[in-house]
Amino acid sequence: RKRVTLTKLAEMRALGEPIVMITAYDHPSALVVEQAGVDVVLVGDSAANNVLGYTDTVPVTVEELLMLTRAVRRGLKTPLLVGDLPFGSYEASDAQAIATAHRFVKEASCDAIKLEGGGASADRARAIIRAGVPVMGHIGLTPQTATMLGGYRAQGRTAARAKQVFDDALALQEAGCFSIVFEAIPAEVTDAIMPYLEIPVIGIGAGPSTDGQVLVLHDLLAIHDDFKPKFAKRFAAVKEEMLRGVEAYAEEVRTRKFPAPEHTYGIAPEELERFRD
Ligand code: KIV
Ligand code: NA
Repeated sequence: RKRVTLTKLAEMRALGEPIVMITAYDHPSALVVEQAGVDVVLVGDSAANNVLGYTDTVPVTVEELLMLTRAVRRGLKTPLLVGDLPFGSYEASDAQAIATAHRFVKEASCDAIKLEGGGASADRARAIIRAGVPVMGHIGLTPQTATMLGGYRAQGRTAARAKQVFDDALALQEAGCFSIVFEAIPAEVTDAIMPYLEIPVIGIGAGPSTDGQVLVLHDLLAIHDDFKPKFAKRFAAVKEEMLRGVEAYAEEVRTRKFPAPEHTYGIAPEELERFRD
């Protein structure tokens, strides 16, 4: 397969071919999503809760995300790789935003970066794009600023809030973003905004009319079984399978069923004889 480019994503949008985006945070999952043939891979700051044990995405650092992003990069050939700018790494100024975006490109070979929000974030996006890095926007439920949004809840559920989502989308498109993530937005609001956008929109809990869908790998595989947002369909039960495996291992060690002869090295009898002498 050919490497997915920004041009390819625009073509897919024009042809009405759904874009498949997914998160990954390490090398084995990068190999899996590569082999599965997805179009876009995001090393989301959701690594904070999915692999680093934080309760939300606010504390995760650039250094932590860069380490994970490099691991994913080593496993990818085909999909577009998007790095996720963490909270506090781009809001202060255009200079800060550009410097952070450049780190994701230079130190982790990202093809693009993503940041959250409209308004001031659209200005940051414009600056990053002018500095040579493609930007994906992200509006609706923006977890980095969830406190200001009243928690983790759907956005755009009143006329005024829907207008806010619409304005943010237009501002990001105007800034030059190549794509925008719509998170947790009523399907009808998405439907109403879509005709005004000329760039691919990737939805997560934003209904069926977007140009593509994104899900968090750990949600769709149920690697965590204690967190299930409304929009996260489970396509596999990986935590159950992992637990089964580790329990079976522990049981066989305790009953001395493992290791069996086929897991055990041998030595030639004469060598053993000499060793014993
Ligand atoms: O960090 C993340 O996983 C994301 C996606 C949900 C878009 O930002
Ligand atoms: Na994110």
